[in-house]
Amino acid sequence: MTEQPKRRRIAVAVTGASGAIYAVRTIAALLEAGCELELVFSDYGKRLLLDELGPEAKVDRLAELMTARYGDGVTRGSFVIHSNKDLGATLASGSHRCDAMVIVPCSMKTLAGVSLGLSRSLIERAADVMLKEQRRLVLVPRETPMSLPALRHMVACAEAGAMILPAMPAFYQQPKSIDDLASFIAGKVLNALGFEQHLFPPWKGE
Ligand SMILES: Cc1cc2nc3c(=O)[nH]c(=O)nc-3n(C[C@H](O)[C@H](O)[C@H](O)COP(=O)(O)O)c2cc1C
Repeated sequence: MTEQPKRRRIAVAVTGASGAIYAVRTIAALLEAGCELELVFSDYGKRLLLDELGPEAKVDRLAELMTARYGDGVTRGSFVIHSNKDLGATLASGSHRCDAMVIVPCSMKTLAGVSLGLSRSLIERAADVMLKEQRRLVLVPRETPMSLPALRHMVACAEAGAMILPAMPAFYQQPKSIDDLASFIAGKVLNALGFEQHLFPPWKGE
């Protein structure tokens, strides 16, 4: 019998910074890539989903939301949702096989918690696990302007091995819609996690 290639297991955390659309586009793209996702939403992450994407963007209806927005391709992957209060969940341990983690969007509060290794919630603990196990951790911070403490927290996270991938979409692709902007950031996240991405075309130098 031919051995099936292992599906990649990725943690995706969604916190209460503006940019819920970056979260759903990233989750959809990873599902389209066939990943097993372990999702965690902070309380304000859930609130911003509703505030920015509308009343149908409920975490307990995520599968329906994904299919409605991005089509059946999302069924290539699978996901489970952990409570952010559950510090006994799989993601809280380095012995659990989870290849990489992205926090998208990442609030300045969660950024500070990760930088200081506070582990007050599952999101912060899972990020700390990624750093201690030297696995890929991608942070997608969003705030403007940025305080000096926030800038220092980003430097500390980068020094500890995280990739800082700010929610700063580019305009050289001539985006036509908000979805194009979200796809650009989601594509960058996929690249940072080691995936091929087809969400925006590569720059050809012309
Ligand atoms: C509408 C709204 C927009 C917000 N936007 C941001 C933001 O862009 N960046 C940020 O760091 N915090 C933002 N916040 C504040 C965070 O949600 C708040 O600091 C929260 O405690 C973050 O908690 P969490 O990291 O556990 O999600 C926003 C809050 C609200 C209600």
